[in-house]
Amino acid sequence: MQTLIVTGAAGFIGSNFVRYMLQKYPDYRIIVLDALTYAGNLDNLKDVWSNPNFTFIKGDIRDAAIVNNLAQNADAIINFAAETHVDRSIIEPGAFLQTDVAGTWVLLEAARQHNLDRILHISTDEVYGSIDVGSFQETDILEPSSPYSASKAGAEHMVGAYHKTYGVPTIVTRGSNNFGPYHYPEKLIPLFITNLIDDQPVPVYGDGQQVRDWMYVLDHCAGIDIALHHGQPGQTYNVGGGNERANMDVVKLILHALNKPDSLIRYVTDRPGHDRRYSIDCSKIAALGYKPGATFEDRIAETVQWYVSNQDWWRAIKEKQRDYKDFMQKWYADRQ
Ligand code: NAD
Ligand code: DAU
Repeated sequence: MQTLIVTGAAGFIGSNFVRYMLQKYPDYRIIVLDALTYAGNLDNLKDVWSNPNFTFIKGDIRDAAIVNNLAQNADAIINFAAETHVDRSIIEPGAFLQTDVAGTWVLLEAARQHNLDRILHISTDEVYGSIDVGSFQETDILEPSSPYSASKAGAEHMVGAYHKTYGVPTIVTRGSNNFGPYHYPEKLIPLFITNLIDDQPVPVYGDGQQVRDWMYVLDHCAGIDIALHHGQPGQTYNVGGGNERANMDVVKLILHALNKPDSLIRYVTDRPGHDRRYSIDCSKIAALGYKPGATFEDRIAETVQWYVSNQDWWRAIKEKQRDYKDFMQKWYADRQ
């Protein structure tokens, strides 16, 4: 049996990944290590809680004692733990350096000391920065724009150093923008769906023509699974959805799915340092068998339906984050 430590799995992608792995590999043992920050939510793992192969440990990836204790009996680490919201990183970058860079280093050190078979680090297409035409390949240089993406790039450099210097069997995946169930309602898609369900306005940054490559979260999980089992140590793999869309097109799709009027759109001050377009070439992971599933439009329709049917889940979060939203609105208003 393989024992995997999955960090940050009380969050959005990690919780979907744990569910996916427990179903696909009934012999694997999964130990989740998560600090339960504002983004961590045990409700995301409710349906796997009673699985005998699942264990949850509340703890910080920067805590070397906890990490080393778990690593003694594990085969691999998959690192999802991070501060992840670009807007928060602009307001308060420190936590991003602490978790995304220093925390990743603690995990790498544990992988080295305990001779783990793999450490798979989940990174992001944001490390490349913006691209006007064409698509980034894994060999392109990293030019991150925000404190978030700079922290993720910093972590990646440390991962690379641990492979080159100590021979630690690392793998990096660079995912594009995810969406789907359990997505924290501060990010574009879940924020807009949940606001619109309540007939609340939706804040579009700048002209709304920024382009992201949207990937359904379970496609991302499948890509990570492929990289974990078939990727080569020391290698990096882009994992995208093949759905480049301007933000305004995504907003229109959600308005349409919920039958809400365009008058709920509010154009607000742009995000500082806002990347215009992300685009990645995924031929390297495709050669290992990765292929995204259903169409973007179908997945958006399913996702909207999930938020309509799971209102207790997101209403509890939105109630708790009221202070943050008030603060954000003031921060943006002060800059107008
Ligand atoms: P999320 O914000 O939903 O969840 C992050 C999780 O990490 C939370 O459960 C939180 O409690 C935990 N965490 C934070 N700091 C921690 C610490 N110091 N120790 C232990 N746990 C800690 O994030 P997400 O959207 O699921 O993203 C997961 C990973 O995937 C991140 O590394 C992110 O950079 C990367 N990624 C995200 C996307 C996306 O579109 N969401 C795309 C590409 C890559
Ligand atoms: O590309 C992968 C990245 O995608 C991940 O690494 C990050 O963790 C994840 O948060 C996401 O980053 P983005 O900044 O692209 O996602 P976000 O949902 O915050 O914003 C998507 C786009 O929508 C972006 O162009 C900003 C815009 N936006 C966002 C919000 C929250 C708005 O116009 N209004 C909003 O209120």
